[in-house]
Amino acid sequence: MAVRFHTTIAVEDLTPRQAKSEHARLEGEIASHDKRYYQDDAPTLSDADYDALRRRYAAIEERFPDLRTLTSLTQKVGATPARGFAKVRHAVPMLSLDNAFSEEDVAEFVQRIRRFLKLDENEKLSFTAEPKIDGLSLSLRYENGVLITGATRGDGFEGEDVTENVKMLDDIPHKLKGKVPTTCELRGEVYMSHADFVALNKAQEKSGGIIYANPRNSAAGSLRQKDSKIAASRKLRFFAYAWGEMSDMPKDKQSDMLGWMEKVGFQTNPLWKLCKSTDDLIAFHRSIGEKRAKLGYDIDGVVYKLDRLDWQERLGFVSRSPRWAIAHKFAAEQATTVLNDIEIQVGRTGALTPVAKLEPVTVGGVVVQNASLHNEDYIKGIGSDGEPIRGGTDIRIGDTVTIQRAGDVIPQIIDVVLDKRPKSAKPYKFPIKCPACGSHAVREVNPRSGKEDAVRRCTGGLICPAQAVERIRHFVSRDAFDIEGLGEKQVQAFYDEGVIMEPADIFTLEKRDQRAVKKLKDREGYGETSIRNLFAAIEARRSVALNRFIYALGIRHVGETNARLLARHYGSIEDFRKSIAAAAKDAEGEEFQELTSIGGIGEVVAEAIVEFFKEKRNVEAVGRLLDEIAVEPMEKAASNSPVSGKTVVFTGSLEKMTRDEAKAMAERLGAKASGSVSKKTDYVVAGPGAGSKLAEAAKLGIKVLTEDEWLSLVGQ
Ligand code: IVH
Repeated sequence: MAVRFHTTIAVEDLTPRQAKSEHARLEGEIASHDKRYYQDDAPTLSDADYDALRRRYAAIEERFPDLRTLTSLTQKVGATPARGFAKVRHAVPMLSLDNAFSEEDVAEFVQRIRRFLKLDENEKLSFTAEPKIDGLSLSLRYENGVLITGATRGDGFEGEDVTENVKMLDDIPHKLKGKVPTTCELRGEVYMSHADFVALNKAQEKSGGIIYANPRNSAAGSLRQKDSKIAASRKLRFFAYAWGEMSDMPKDKQSDMLGWMEKVGFQTNPLWKLCKSTDDLIAFHRSIGEKRAKLGYDIDGVVYKLDRLDWQERLGFVSRSPRWAIAHKFAAEQATTVLNDIEIQVGRTGALTPVAKLEPVTVGGVVVQNASLHNEDYIKGIGSDGEPIRGGTDIRIGDTVTIQRAGDVIPQIIDVVLDKRPKSAKPYKFPIKCPACGSHAVREVNPRSGKEDAVRRCTGGLICPAQAVERIRHFVSRDAFDIEGLGEKQVQAFYDEGVIMEPADIFTLEKRDQRAVKKLKDREGYGETSIRNLFAAIEARRSVALNRFIYALGIRHVGETNARLLARHYGSIEDFRKSIAAAAKDAEGEEFQELTSIGGIGEVVAEAIVEFFKEKRNVEAVGRLLDEIAVEPMEKAASNSPVSGKTVVFTGSLEKMTRDEAKAMAERLGAKASGSVSKKTDYVVAGPGAGSKLAEAAKLGIKVLTEDEWLSLVGQ
């Protein structure tokens, strides 16, 4: 996590120079939070923290009135709507939906319901299928048929009170029609049509107002206007599709509830359909997908809901999504653009990764400039199985390429538009030397498979500056030493200045010499407080758990899970070092055998550990580090439990313990807790809601246990 480096000197202690720079910094920060809140509808700061920023800004001006100019934020009252609507606690939490991306996911969703309800194959299941509106959800509370409050979703438990604004919407009745239950909480989506969105932005442009990125953000921004007259002018619409607290249920089916919502005065989406099979659901998804572009409002998928409400009740929820509903999303968004360059990045383990530098292009509302190119073969048009991809077409600088963005994953280049290839474009030559240190970069051959590794790696090891920086970054990262205040940028800067060249340097920083401290101070944005905070964060990590220590070393193939297995096996840093040193000396010896006998540690991992400790410079660096810190011992794993040496995967929701507790227990008992099912898995412990992992276990014939069966197996 990047940590902000700014002083928190009390306003009364600021010098005029510090005040000026702090005032400017706060102005920038407040503006960026305003943008996130009003324009992007994606605030990253709580209202209280935001108010604190504003207060500090105003207090600085109070003390240094010269800083208060006409453009000051304190003078621009009303330019941006005030934040902080009153909060409303939802009587019934507003939940989100699980996603399905493929037909298999949908089939699995239906199967999961069958399994959970223990229905036999002949029992028919009906679902409502409706478009998934890309707006923002709203909860409307009616008492005795009269609208009392309108609240946004917020964090699902508590939203913002936007009653006055929602009263301005034509689609929201102030009074429900007919005889209705005493308390009715109706829920649905506020959205803006494409036409209204375009018109709004045009008007905003004229008046110098905020330009919204998409209809969803403009709907959110409009609903949050403090002046309800403005909200009224914004043409917001509303579709009802769900409910919260109801003193009585008027109907017992989802589909009938849609009809009822219409009867009492709401709009429901006219495209909804009752589907009686998985095939029906898929056909609905397809037909809505075809209509999508012509709807005139944004949708991002369809939602399936089990029709019978008594079954919905029985199915309940997993974490914050119902088991009885799912959002079937539309496929990723694509766009074409020009590949301007290919940049090679060097990772911690020396992997050379190609990154596409693109002519910026908007894909699904996000500007994309970089995309993943995976590896050398991918650029050449060869897949990971050695077979041609994209019909064998290679990717060249200057090519027009198709990129795809799905959800939050890094965009990918998926194809080349050959017609547009410039004549001068030449096949890309992947570097065989590391761009950071000039050492040879090679593709190792896997000793077992005899196949060449897809990744080309720098052989420079410790002399490669890119690897060194990445190693230090890894060392201070959250699951390793977790040193707050040493973000990616700081590590690079300290390395460039020769202040931190290896992990041990972090712990000698304070005592080493005052010059280092001075260098820190000279850097923009570093003040006494941030230096003090950094030193405190470093001090706090002078004692560290053995598994974190091992993980922090950044040995290839030793991720968190393997680091924990090693820590549980050796128990103390002394035993770990002694044993591994001996294993590094003698590959035939007892200690090497011991290493490979640890359940979950295979030969490739063992080799990597030994390789690391064969390198004298690594051993010395570890020695220097241990002069500075203490490593806490760890309770050793049982070697005689019924599951020692076994690999177990937990999936679905567990009822008697959290997933983390279950994993920790498995490891204490000498088992390896893994995140994915493979041939090496011995047991899959499946709780309600288990999905693809359960299917994978069935396919591979792996033993599946319930949580209780697992507990009795391990004797708990
Ligand atoms: S049902 C307990 N139906 O999608 C289930 N949600 O990703 C409540 N959404 O927060 C949601 N159209 O804002 C449902 N037809 C629809 C929807 C829909 C859009 C939104 C809603 C929800 C989000 C979940």
